[in-house]
Amino acid sequence: MADDSGNQPPVPDGLPVLGNTLDFIRSPMSFIGKLPKHGDVVRCEFPMIRAVALFHPEDIRTVLLADQQTYRRWNFDQLRKMGGYDFAPEGLAFTEGEKWRNQRRHLQSMFGLDRLHGYADTMVEHTERVLKQWEDGAEIALNHAFSELSLAVLTHSLFDFDMRERGEPIIRATETLNDRAQLGGRNAVEFLLPSWIPTPGHARYREAMDDFDTVVDELITERRANPVGYDDLLARMLATESDSDYTMSDAEIHDQMLAFLFAGHETTATTLTFTWLLLSTHPEKRKRLDAEIEDVLGGAPPSPERLDALTYTEQVIKEALRLYPPAAMLFRKNLTETEIGGHTVPANSTILLPQFVVHTDERWYDDPQTFRPERWDSRRERPEYAYFPFGGGGHHCIGMRFAMMELKHVIPIIAQRVDFELLSTPDPAVQMEMTLQPTEDIRARVTKRSSRY
Ligand code: HEM
Repeated sequence: MADDSGNQPPVPDGLPVLGNTLDFIRSPMSFIGKLPKHGDVVRCEFPMIRAVALFHPEDIRTVLLADQQTYRRWNFDQLRKMGGYDFAPEGLAFTEGEKWRNQRRHLQSMFGLDRLHGYADTMVEHTERVLKQWEDGAEIALNHAFSELSLAVLTHSLFDFDMRERGEPIIRATETLNDRAQLGGRNAVEFLLPSWIPTPGHARYREAMDDFDTVVDELITERRANPVGYDDLLARMLATESDSDYTMSDAEIHDQMLAFLFAGHETTATTLTFTWLLLSTHPEKRKRLDAEIEDVLGGAPPSPERLDALTYTEQVIKEALRLYPPAAMLFRKNLTETEIGGHTVPANSTILLPQFVVHTDERWYDDPQTFRPERWDSRRERPEYAYFPFGGGGHHCIGMRFAMMELKHVIPIIAQRVDFELLSTPDPAVQMEMTLQPTEDIRARVTKRSSRY
């Protein structure tokens, strides 16, 4: 350990000047996963960034619940502006202060229970559609199949438009952005270069995002010309002009659409992928899930009124989110010098809150690496922020209920109709992109269940 004197958090050994950069770039998740052996508050040395990782739920709670004058969201500015493209600067996921507060208040009404229930039919309809595409015996990549499904559900529910018509630029933009956001490997070199240097990666990204912008702008223009009969997020944003309390410009609406598509798409898709990976490799859990679904739904698709009774289904989802948290790590910045866990953290440090490490800490979870949905029905006491897949405090996920509702619709319908025989490894390598992603496709063979459905 290089320097753990005084009140400073300990720091792992590193190289002169570069500090821990190479270890981090080689494998960010493995580097961060090993930090807790130095303590609950650990400093990492990089040439341009002073980072401090937190591993104790109480410290995480303090940071997430603090006011925005003390801890701000770290805004991925470098990443957002790569290739000279400024990604959704006015989107809810990136704004700050008064602007963010007004947007959040305004958009929150779209995610109330009443409104969410209106999305249920769309969730069922798209899941049925995807199931029809799968032939008995077909080999599919679960990650691609669920990415397509969750994008269709999201775009249909929030913007009432059919992905099949204009999905290509959106899918390409999502893939390019995910690729850009990969923290380690070759991207790290481009990440460290100024964004105006015309690398092939920057050019590809720019082109994909420009095409994406065109689709979003067309949608806004078409809707302005023909606004009648829609009751989705886009309609609500456009209607702000007649709402005296808050008005959104076209540029802001455009950014909100980008922010919601990116925040809501791969997060849910990843959860579906890993839930089915886990269920395919744990037949006894799958059996219990099937029994609950038969008991509660008796062969019918889920509906909002019956979701509360799907308690084991919910535990399965919670456990998948524990083991494979899509956001993987949250970021904050302290605007003033702060004291965390008995250590002094200088102002403007990047604070890392690694869900993927905290969620598997033996202090809070027995047998932490094991998929055991039943752990959620015990009354075992654990600190609240030992589990925070949807974040916490003011910026907690605005789409959490939407996502849970989607998962509780899609998973039972799929369970009613098919089995997956996993063809890939049961323990795939993962990496942090925009969301946690498998490094290789997760392949499975579909077997249709012979049943009454
Ligand atoms: C399983 C699915 C999801 C997970 C695990 C997830 C996770 C998260 C997390 C951890 C945050 C907080 C980030 C931070 O504090 O830095 C967040 C914020 C956000 N999420 Fe989600 N999310 C999911 C689904 C969705 C969906 C479906 C939508 C949209 C319909 C959405 C929209 C957003 C937005 C707009 C924010 C920013 C909120 C703000 O800053 O006020 N998310 N999400």
